Amino acid sequence: MTTLTTATTLHTAAVGTAHTRVEGRDKVTGAARYAGEVPFADLAHGWLVLSTVARGRIRDLDTESVLAMPGVLAVLEHRNAPRLTTDYTGLLGMRPDPTCAVFQHDRVPHLGWPVALVVAETSEQAREAAETLVVRYEQEPHDVGFGAGHPDAYAADGHIPAVTEKGDLDAGLAAAAVVVDAEYTTPEEHHHPMEPHAATARWDGGRLEVTDSNQGATWVVGELANLFSLDPAAVRVRSEHVGGGFGSKGVRAHQVAAVMAATVLQRPVRVVLTRRQMFSLAGYRSPTIQHVRLGADTDGHLRALAHHSLNQTATGYEFVEASAGVARVMYDADAHHTANRVVRLDIPSPTFMRAPGEAPGSFALEAALDELAEKCGIDPIELRLRNEPDRGPVSGLPFAGRNLAACFREGARRFGWAERDPRPGLRREGRLLLGTGMAAASFPAGAMPSTASATAHPDGTFTVRISAADIGTGARTALTLVAADALRTSPERVHVRIGDSDFGPAMIAGGSMGTRSWAWAIRVAAAELCERLALGTGIPPEGITVRSDTTAAIGALAAAERHSYGAQFAEVSVDPGTGEVRVRRMLGIFAAGQIINPLTARNQLRGGMIWGISMALHEEAVRDRASGGHVGADLAGYHVATHADVPRIEADWIEDTDPDDPVGIKGIGEIGIVGAAAAVANAVWHATGVRHRSLPIRPDRIL
Ligand code: MOS
Repeated sequence: MTTLTTATTLHTAAVGTAHTRVEGRDKVTGAARYAGEVPFADLAHGWLVLSTVARGRIRDLDTESVLAMPGVLAVLEHRNAPRLTTDYTGLLGMRPDPTCAVFQHDRVPHLGWPVALVVAETSEQAREAAETLVVRYEQEPHDVGFGAGHPDAYAADGHIPAVTEKGDLDAGLAAAAVVVDAEYTTPEEHHHPMEPHAATARWDGGRLEVTDSNQGATWVVGELANLFSLDPAAVRVRSEHVGGGFGSKGVRAHQVAAVMAATVLQRPVRVVLTRRQMFSLAGYRSPTIQHVRLGADTDGHLRALAHHSLNQTATGYEFVEASAGVARVMYDADAHHTANRVVRLDIPSPTFMRAPGEAPGSFALEAALDELAEKCGIDPIELRLRNEPDRGPVSGLPFAGRNLAACFREGARRFGWAERDPRPGLRREGRLLLGTGMAAASFPAGAMPSTASATAHPDGTFTVRISAADIGTGARTALTLVAADALRTSPERVHVRIGDSDFGPAMIAGGSMGTRSWAWAIRVAAAELCERLALGTGIPPEGITVRSDTTAAIGALAAAERHSYGAQFAEVSVDPGTGEVRVRRMLGIFAAGQIINPLTARNQLRGGMIWGISMALHEEAVRDRASGGHVGADLAGYHVATHADVPRIEADWIEDTDPDDPVGIKGIGEIGIVGAAAAVANAVWHATGVRHRSLPIRPDRIL
């Protein structure tokens, strides 16, 4: 037995200090293995075959000739695949997405639907055979035509209620001195994390083990256990390193297909999605059509506000891109109406994509506010300050910290907003037109129950285990800092292990709630461990381990409007000859609770802002109505912001804390993109005098 010395050693608070990623060296040297790289003996490889029609039935698959090809072990399809249970409600009350519950029937509901998995000894053999497989369809007419006038649109709840209504909207608009009534559109957008989706499934004794790239092992365990009617304790999911997720890495077709094949062949099977396959299998952000109406007094005070949004979803699955939700938090009015509607089309279901709802919703709402500021002749920041609500406009709940005004003040000071001439189209630099714009941002802050364990070792070090996912955000490092403070030691003495469902249930890396939820569980385990160590009984060789579960603590949180806030600023140049828009600089100032690691937090916020530039100017997945599929389903055809598009871009924050969180965290996962596209679009108006209500602001649309 050794007595612990570190508990009494002085240390500096780690939370709030910059720390490079604890796994950074492993990542840059290649020692870090991603899901598609982890070696397994006797590994077989599956390759998905996707439908080439957008609607119909599979009449025949010519599997025999493919089975005769070199190395081919099996072809799984609807006639021979294991049956799945799909009648369940999983995480977040969600039903399984039919695109992920593969090979259960002969119907084809969208182009790029999985119709078979070819399994072979090597990936090359599987691909060769998959591309050779002849599939015959009975084709039916399809409808992929998203439009405002679609007759089948209906109001739909997603993770929030579909409709909120307060006051008489028509009367409010009729009585208003100033009215903005405009339609805004955003296109279909795709996540495309750098690491494509990949999973290896194998049976290990009586347990199913899946090595995967996902946003939450607990989530994937739950879905696979449901789908395959397994005891969750008989499923283990591991995801040590994840190269990006953004909402796309839950359970998708590849994990399910890999488990099926591993079950049938009784050997490990890996399935990796190609970039092109990800366009129909990974989920995406629906296009939106948003109608915003604002009625105000001449002093800018809002009297009426309506925000209605329409998105597309699949015929067999309802997903709501809840864009009208942001208005329920940001601005109040006597008459206040919001609604989210969907229309079902012959397309894959959209899914969560970074700041689902808030990203497109803030574009429409914050652009409309800019139009109102222009009409009222009021500075856009002043207009927003005059409309700061003191309670949740729809919920009526008090705000648990709303430091938006402070973000405006700090942002305006640093951006040089005071010198701005509000008139559009006046500033020139050579042939370029220059303009600046701003927008507000918010994103819900919350925590979900998690479990963690903390172990004290005799050598004075600690191991923390939690089934968290670091999807590239730096979560593992943030949790190391949180754990170090909670254990009253230095980060170097703490080893945080994540990405293994055997560590117990935990929140996903999603909803901007991951780090906060995990940190809470770690704090509780660490505090109790410290108490045990204070008894001074010494530490046995196997260490002392304490487990935590935050279910009760989080359940006891008082109801309030909890959000992170931000102010986004952009300066653009517009070439009126070519239509080229260049963002010159961007500044985002956030009130997002306690920042754990300034280094990775800044990366996270800037990444969101860069995505906002991309959303404003580049991203657009174009669907071909004739085929029902995408035009240019690759990263050559789908444009994203690259280094050359990213100018001076600063993200910073003001002092802010959540009083109800043990560490003061609110969450920074998604807010970086919120309002960013609106700030760019508002700057384009300021440069040119032309309002752009449809994203992206392509060169051919500019003037
Ligand atoms: Mo996020 S869209 O909750 O990964």
